[in-house]
Amino acid sequence: MPDNSQWYLLGTAGVVIWSVIYLTRSEKPLDRIPPACPEEHGFFKFRSKKSTLQMLKDGYHTHITRTFKVPEAGTWRVFLNTPALIDEMSKMPEMSLTESSNEMILMDTTLYPYAPPHEVSSLLSRVIRVSLSQNMDAILPGIMDEVKASFNDMLGEKVATEWVSVPAAQSMIKAIARVTNRVTIGLPLCREEEVVNGSIKFTTTVFLTGFAVSFLPHSLKRPFAKLVLGWAGVRERLEKYVWPVVEERLEAVRVHGKDWEGLPPDVLTWVIQDVPDHNLTAKYISQVLIGMNFAAVHTSSMTLTHAIFQLAVEGDKYLPELRQEAETILSSEGYTKTSLNKLVKMDSFFKEILRFHGVGGTRKPDFPSRRPTVSPQRMTTGDVTLSDGTFLPRGTLVGGNVIQIHSNEQFYPHAAEFDGFRYVEDGKTTGGSLITTSPTFLTFGHGKQACPGRFFANFELKAMLAHLILNYDIKMDGPAVRPENVQFRYGVAPHRTAKVMFRKIAA
Ligand code: HEM
Repeated sequence: MPDNSQWYLLGTAGVVIWSVIYLTRSEKPLDRIPPACPEEHGFFKFRSKKSTLQMLKDGYHTHITRTFKVPEAGTWRVFLNTPALIDEMSKMPEMSLTESSNEMILMDTTLYPYAPPHEVSSLLSRVIRVSLSQNMDAILPGIMDEVKASFNDMLGEKVATEWVSVPAAQSMIKAIARVTNRVTIGLPLCREEEVVNGSIKFTTTVFLTGFAVSFLPHSLKRPFAKLVLGWAGVRERLEKYVWPVVEERLEAVRVHGKDWEGLPPDVLTWVIQDVPDHNLTAKYISQVLIGMNFAAVHTSSMTLTHAIFQLAVEGDKYLPELRQEAETILSSEGYTKTSLNKLVKMDSFFKEILRFHGVGGTRKPDFPSRRPTVSPQRMTTGDVTLSDGTFLPRGTLVGGNVIQIHSNEQFYPHAAEFDGFRYVEDGKTTGGSLITTSPTFLTFGHGKQACPGRFFANFELKAMLAHLILNYDIKMDGPAVRPENVQFRYGVAPHRTAKVMFRKIAA
């Protein structure tokens, strides 16, 4: 009978033998999927020698009807090349957006530390898709008030008589943060400098944290992320302002009930109405509001900035028609859900902005980034076999090769040209509107988990751009050349410092 130390030795030997067999076995689950570049087979899959865009291009042209994989810190992401496979993926119940985000930005630690991420994500998506979208007409006056106030603060009084220069990206993100906060927590907090800056900084800090810890072993990621976020203190600074507002609203609900007519029509109210009673705490609710900020501010502000750059450079081509459309419709009908939906030229313009410069866009074909842009993005929650035979084990990161699809001549003739009115013919939208996702228009993802905020973004962006073009002339501060985009971990962003100029149109 072996004694204790022998059992220990036998056990250790067993684990070592199992590990050696596992690590050296001839075939690992993703081995059959070709890498975008054959030289990327190495054990240390931390980075690629090629730029990501080059890899996605190579992967696309070599494996045009299939899947291929691209290295991401210490693991692989499998890219799907065809609209059919992307459509199939987005319909599969075993493909989770929340799990993918949790893997990349550690949502359970960074974004939703007080409840399971899938619970908060589905609550937030429900509130955004249903309550926020359905109540647009009730909140549009507040949005327009905030839009006007933001641009007035940004441009000052001089703009009435002279050109005023502002850094586009930084100015648009502040305006969008104010408008977003106006519909979540309302006045006066939405204008508070610390809240505006905090909601902008929180998102970048979460992304940077996710990136910084992505190279660490799995067990160290969360402790380190917690440490970094705690050190940055962004959540605490936001909570300091948001918690008292939530407490006050909760008190009103305790006194008058959840259905009291005196509750303001805003996201805070709708979240409280959706949350089960045992979760009615400032901690729980504020994480939902911060989550909405996270999803809404940078995405929409980048889109608006791209649009402003385009108009500053190609104003002659687009401004007259966009203005005429906005003037005709909005001067008689005002800013409502119905009137904004009638702005078909603006709809087409934004859709092209998002095809060209959005998540799948790039202005410089060989931008030297090593990070893929991907949409939709998912992680498998069970073993899956795609219709082309590709086997994806549980826990595989998967994504659509959006850049190649958005620049494919078959789906977008003259795809390399920006054509702002590409999706409008005889005054009607053709080929789907801005908010219609499809396997060939993937800016908002696709399928059941596609962006629930796109309906709100559609109204917010059109209202803001309409206000700008009806009141101001726009040009670049400097030569009329579109500033180059920058690429970051999972997407592409407008130039960070380029300036544009505004001047009030004479009454
Ligand atoms: C132009 C602006 C926007 C773009 C380009 C955008 C894009 C996206 C994309 C690509 C996804 C992932 C979808 C998928 O993989 O299928 C997503 C998810 C999401 N978006 Fe947006 N978004 C925008 C604006 C907004 C706004 C304004 C809100 C909030 C009002 C919002 C809330 C969300 C939420 C909560 C999710 C996660 C949904 C889930 O977990 O199931 N987005 N968005």
